[in-house]
Amino acid sequence: MKNKKIIIIGLICTFLMGVLAGCGSNTNENQAGKSQKVSQKKAINNDSSKESTETEGKSGKVLVVYYSATGNTEAVAKTIAETMKADTFELKPVKPYSNDDLNWSNNNSRVTKEHDNPSSRNVQLTTTTVDNWKSYDTVFIGYPIWWGIAAWPVDGFVKANDFTGKTVIPFCTSASSDIGDSGKLLAKMAGKGNWLKGERFPSGASTEDVQKWVESLRK
Ligand SMILES: Cc1cc2nc3c(=O)[nH]c(=O)nc-3n(C[C@H](O)[C@H](O)[C@H](O)COP(=O)(O)O)c2cc1C
Repeated sequence: MKNKKIIIIGLICTFLMGVLAGCGSNTNENQAGKSQKVSQKKAINNDSSKESTETEGKSGKVLVVYYSATGNTEAVAKTIAETMKADTFELKPVKPYSNDDLNWSNNNSRVTKEHDNPSSRNVQLTTTTVDNWKSYDTVFIGYPIWWGIAAWPVDGFVKANDFTGKTVIPFCTSASSDIGDSGKLLAKMAGKGNWLKGERFPSGASTEDVQKWVESLRK
């Protein structure tokens, strides 16, 4: 009889401990869920072990990096920076592209030669060092589309910096091409960071359209 009582009390204790342990882990999960309310965004690479997430309303400190040969991407970059209250960082080739350099219909222009020979796309930039780089949580990276991919002056910046722990949002301008795989290729070059799919704007994108897109990222 006494033994039976001990067994029953033992079983009740085991059951209660199980219930309490279960409650504990649920509480932790819920707290994590609350403090890190996230909106899922389409990811294209790198922090592949986890889903791409962007903390809702919390982009942290934001930097807008861009290269622009003729001003279209720069206009978009400035609107993003104003809307996000972000810092900007312009990528400047040591040898800027002249209009003749950019003439893609000339087989002998600089840009056509670089396009035809990928090993010559190593464009030296005046600097790739951003002050307080580590302090930025979100990095927008903008470029014109050249022959369907990101204009290669951005490559040097992407290769030179460590994107670990950062959310990276590509954006581009083009005459008609979509963003395509341009961001994916940059993500591969970077090797690190949580790269989102990004957005393409037409060459003369309206301020309102850019603002709308930026606002949509915060939802
Ligand atoms: C060398 C070169 C290649 C281009 N290739 C494409 C292209 O493949 N698809 C496209 O839609 N536009 C293309 N464009 C147009 C640019 O992407 C477009 O004008 C862009 O807005 C320029 O941006 P930027 O003023 O910031 O330099 C090309 C322009 C240049 C100079």
